[in-house]
Amino acid sequence: MSVEKMDKKKTLDLRKKHIGPSCKIFFSHDPIKIVQAKGQYMYDENGQRYLDCINNVAHVGHSHPDVVKAGAQQMELLNTNSRFLHDNLVLYAQRLQATLPNKLSVCYFVNSGSEANDLALRLVRQYRGHKDIITLENAYHGHVSSLIDISPYKFHQLSDAEQNQSVHVAPSPDVYRGKYRANHPDPATAYADDVKGIIDKAHEKGGKIAAFIAESLQSCGGQVIPPVGYFQQVAKHVRKAGGLFIADEVQVGFGRVGSKFWAFQLQGEDFVPDIVTMGKPIGNGHPMSCVVTTKEVAEAFMTSGMEYFNTFGGNPVSCAIGLAVLDVIEKEDLQGNALRVGGYLTNLLEKQKEKHALVGDIRGCGLFVGMELVRDRLKLTPATAEAQEVIYKLKEQHILLSADGPHRNVLKFKPPMCFSTEDADLVVEKIDHILTEIEAALGLKSSNLLSVENDSGKRKLPTDENGHQSQNGSVHSRGSGQRAHEQTKQSKRLRS
Ligand SMILES: Cc1ncc(COP(=O)(O)O)c(C=O)c1O
Repeated sequence: MSVEKMDKKKTLDLRKKHIGPSCKIFFSHDPIKIVQAKGQYMYDENGQRYLDCINNVAHVGHSHPDVVKAGAQQMELLNTNSRFLHDNLVLYAQRLQATLPNKLSVCYFVNSGSEANDLALRLVRQYRGHKDIITLENAYHGHVSSLIDISPYKFHQLSDAEQNQSVHVAPSPDVYRGKYRANHPDPATAYADDVKGIIDKAHEKGGKIAAFIAESLQSCGGQVIPPVGYFQQVAKHVRKAGGLFIADEVQVGFGRVGSKFWAFQLQGEDFVPDIVTMGKPIGNGHPMSCVVTTKEVAEAFMTSGMEYFNTFGGNPVSCAIGLAVLDVIEKEDLQGNALRVGGYLTNLLEKQKEKHALVGDIRGCGLFVGMELVRDRLKLTPATAEAQEVIYKLKEQHILLSADGPHRNVLKFKPPMCFSTEDADLVVEKIDHILTEIEAALGLKSSNLLSVENDSGKRKLPTDENGHQSQNGSVHSRGSGQRAHEQTKQSKRLRS
């Protein structure tokens, strides 16, 4: 079964020699070489199977035969750019549009989430000639220069002078760790009012708001689920200022949240963004992405007089693959599976919260679930090293999970959508054992749970953490503490 071309050491040596050192690798002290994958499983060069809990890109399952076939068949026939008339382009645009509210009817096909968000910025800046962008604390929207500018997840490492002065950062609408928590009478309004305050300040300085951009659920930001009503109120303030609302669905779209096809729809029927950007799952691993907007925004873009041309965007192969992905989601009821299995997983994790003092919060929608580890449920001290320990121990047991958020203490589940209840049982059982071991080493007792319970248990909508600085801690356990500390420093993040 092995399809490796050289032994692992040689692969690693060549990678060190020829690949840029900023391109990080998972588990850098002992990387995994994956040579094959199927469904929710990945296989290394020795045929060892890993349960994949992190690859939301392989949305309908790794190497899904229908997707592979659609791509191969179209490649045999033709692949070219979108200046030629082709059925796949328009059929796919029509099909994608059918999943969205009517007013979102115009598509631009591009090749990565970054390209999609970069184009979205061009659209909003052309719309009224405004320049200022409001983004959320801890947000990540892509790797190109224009997006590093609006990604505090990255730009907090830059000096003030290097940061773009027309970018404004609003608090993450995090009701667990954020500025307004679950015990606040109306966190949605409070967080939206902060956006209004930012708009007013920008106006005072002569700025004009082009857009507010947010992931419909913050992913790298720590699996944050905004309180219902927040987006509606933000959209009202932003539109009044002549700006637009961009919903970044690069991580969370295409049915992942279970109850809806798009995560922004969790806010309610009355909320429709002006622009939706898509990526990762859209091609199940094939590099494609899309920006969908309104006729009005598209027409304003046209007034620049500049042609928009993209060599690969919307090519017949990408569109064939995109169509196959939508077919599989429907045929295999993967959105329904996300709802059922995601609910099952969340329930299992909630039980872990009852059992383990280290578990501060469980929040999730469908197969997008976060488990936040804290050392103290009142102070919400991030259990960063412990989260890394869980991940490394899981890897030893051939389960791939990652941690994210500003403190890297949120274990995040975003597996291929064919994830099963058996998979959920397996990973949670392993986490249970690992947490028991770590807590024993730390001398934490589950019987303390009630006394350390904070009011997060009362809230309706769980969310996640904020803050800018990663507080690397160490596990004071026999032997594992130093290792966990080193791993925390080393591992940084395991984001796809
Ligand atoms: C929310 C979000 N937007 C945009 C991007 C950028 O996508 P890509 O890496 O395909 O350019 C990412 C990538 O991680 C992301 O998480």
